[in-house]
This record gives sequence, structure tokens and C-alpha cells, in this order.
Amino acid sequence: MYLTKTQERMLAGEFGEASSKAMEILVALGKIYGAPRLVRCTSAQISGVSYKNIGDAGADFLWDLAQKGARVRIPSYINPAGMDLNRFEEMRLDHKFIEGQNRILQAYRKMGVNLSLTCAPYQIGVEPHLGEHVAWAESSAVIFANSVLGAMTNRESGVSALCSAITGYTPYYGYHLTSNRVATLLVRVDAELTDPVDYAVLGSYVGRVAGERVVAFRGINPSREDLKALGAALASTGAVALFFVEDVTPEWRLSDKPEVADVSQADLKKEADKLGGSAPSAEVITIGCPHASIEEIGRLARILTNRKLTKPLYVYTSRQVKSQADQLGYTKIIEDAGGKIYCDTCMVVSPIDRMGVSSIEVASAKAAYYSPMMSHVNVRLAPLEKIILEASEAV
Ligand code: F3S
Repeated sequence: MYLTKTQERMLAGEFGEASSKAMEILVALGKIYGAPRLVRCTSAQISGVSYKNIGDAGADFLWDLAQKGARVRIPSYINPAGMDLNRFEEMRLDHKFIEGQNRILQAYRKMGVNLSLTCAPYQIGVEPHLGEHVAWAESSAVIFANSVLGAMTNRESGVSALCSAITGYTPYYGYHLTSNRVATLLVRVDAELTDPVDYAVLGSYVGRVAGERVVAFRGINPSREDLKALGAALASTGAVALFFVEDVTPEWRLSDKPEVADVSQADLKKEADKLGGSAPSAEVITIGCPHASIEEIGRLARILTNRKLTKPLYVYTSRQVKSQADQLGYTKIIEDAGGKIYCDTCMVVSPIDRMGVSSIEVASAKAAYYSPMMSHVNVRLAPLEKIILEASEAV
């Protein structure tokens, strides 16, 4: 694998022990994947942040790196943590969890990482443009960056994204090469999709058959919110990192002989049922997977205007989007109706089961897919408006 003089020096330890270790890991990964060289990346997005997911072993690893002098060389952002940094007391977390989570965040801070604590950096102004190389790890952010923005990233792990943050490089293979950004599965959709949750269900269904392939959709006309829901679901049931939508996404490349799959309304109905589409109503409503956008919070506020919730509602988003919601008056409407907006965390990476919750209602296929496994809760999946109207009354 070819390395520039600077990269050789970094590997040899001239830029410190941590940079050398990070470079060693990237070179090893590059060799495994047949990368001829490294490529400069403009940002890193790191997963492996919640204490619930990485525990003490992860916290020790990050602290060790930070003590060895690891500092990021490019703008670097992190995924949600296991708690809201300002409202953790309301989340009924134990002392050990809070301490463990704080240790992780201090290590990232010491390394110079932006404590963005969101899985949707593209909603807080981090929007790499067409053809820009980045090293992102959160699967829903990776697929959004590749497909909706046209940026170039592989599905990095938390560790490889951190190594890219420290060195400023990523191995040049996979989706960094235009020649690999070609769909081999063409999905023709013959179904009525009217809500982001319909796109989420489509993504969930197609993810199961697509595996790691690049998918091209024909016959749909999604909005940005729909694309976000579609991508997050494709990256959950499958390992899809890039999709195209004809006449919508910035790229569209189809292989000469793609496999063709047709999707009908009946297929989507079956998929929705698998995700809890016919489940009974649940104890708590959780919205914001991926993290809620200002549009989604605005929609929620409009539905809740002059209504009172009859069950708890937790909305998850980034601190920046929450502050926009505060300014626009959305937070007040949601809180007056009885809801809560949590920042820095989400229903999957926070220990929601330890908060005494045993069933949740969601409008996200990704949350519906992961929550039973990761949080041991039952799930009901339905469109946002339906969930909220059923769980509130006019005042
Ligand atoms: Fe984000 Fe949590 Fe969903 S990290 S994509 S809101 S599982």
C-alpha cells in the first residue's frame, strides 16, 4: 500500500504514539480491503459513545488513547450517548452509568472531538457535498451522506472512524471509488407511500433482500424526511450503505444486468406487521430515530397544538435542533401537551428498560427493529400523526 512521506512519518511515530497506532490500524484495514492508498477525509463521525453499548472496556480504551496524546486532526463528531447531559436525573439512571458515560465523553473531549452527540450530523450543518470523502460510522448517517448528499464514505466502525479523526485519512476503497457506486439491485415499487413511516417500512423490507448491495429505486418520489427514514431502515435490516432513487438522488448508476425486485403494497403490509404494525398500543411514545429534524418536531407541534397527551411522549434530537425548536415555540407546545424533548441520546442507546418502560410506540422502522433486541421492550410501529392523535385529546 502506497503511503506519502507524511503518512510514513506518522506511522513511524513522528507525530506521537496515538497517531502512529491509528495509522497502523488504517493501513492494516487498507491491506485487508485491497486499498492502494489512503485518501484525505474532511470529517469523521464516530460511533461507540453510549456507556450502554461500550461499557467500561470502551471507556478504558478511549481514555488510554486520550492519555497517549490522541488529538483529532479533522472536524470530528460523535453519536448519541446513553443519557441527556442536562436531564439525566429525570432518566432514573444509576450512579455507575452516569459516571461511566461521563468518562467516555471526557475522553472524547480531551481528544478534541466535537460533542455533537447526534446520529444526524447533516441536521446540524455537517453536510459534506457531492464527491467529498468522509469517514463516518453511524449506519443511518453513512447511508444519508452517500445517497442523499452524494458524499463518499464506507460504513466505518467506531474505531476506524476514530483513527481517521486522529490521522485525517481513510483507506481508499469501497464507496470512495465511483466505480463501486453502482446499483446491482433494482427495486420497482408499486405501492402508495404517503408518510415517512411508509418509506421506513419499504427500507426495512428491501434491506432484508439487499444485504450489502447498492440499491436503485424506481417508482417513488421521496422527500428529504422520507429519504432519511428509507436509508436508516435499509441500513438496519440490511447492511446497505448507498442507494439511488431515480430522478431524486444526486447519483444514479445501474449495472448492466441488475437483479430486479418488485415491491407491492401487500409486501409492505407484511413487513409493517413484522415491525409491530399490528401490535397493541404501548406505554410510552418515543420519536426521533434517527434524531428528529426541526421539520419533524414542527410537525409534532402542529399535531399537538391545543391537545393534551394521555401517555408519556419522549422526543430525541440534537441539542442544536432542540434550541431551534425552543426558538420556534415548538418545545413549549410539546411540553405543554405533556411531552419531553431529550437531547444527546435516543430510545435505543439509553437504558429505557431501566427507566421502567416495557413497551414503546415508534414511527421509525430502525427503532422498531432494534428496540426489542437492545432495550427488551415491545414495539408498536405506526405513522407519527396516528400515534399522537390516538394518545391525546383536545383541550
Ligand atoms: Fe440515532 Fe439512536 Fe436511531 S443513534 S439512528 S436515534 S438508534
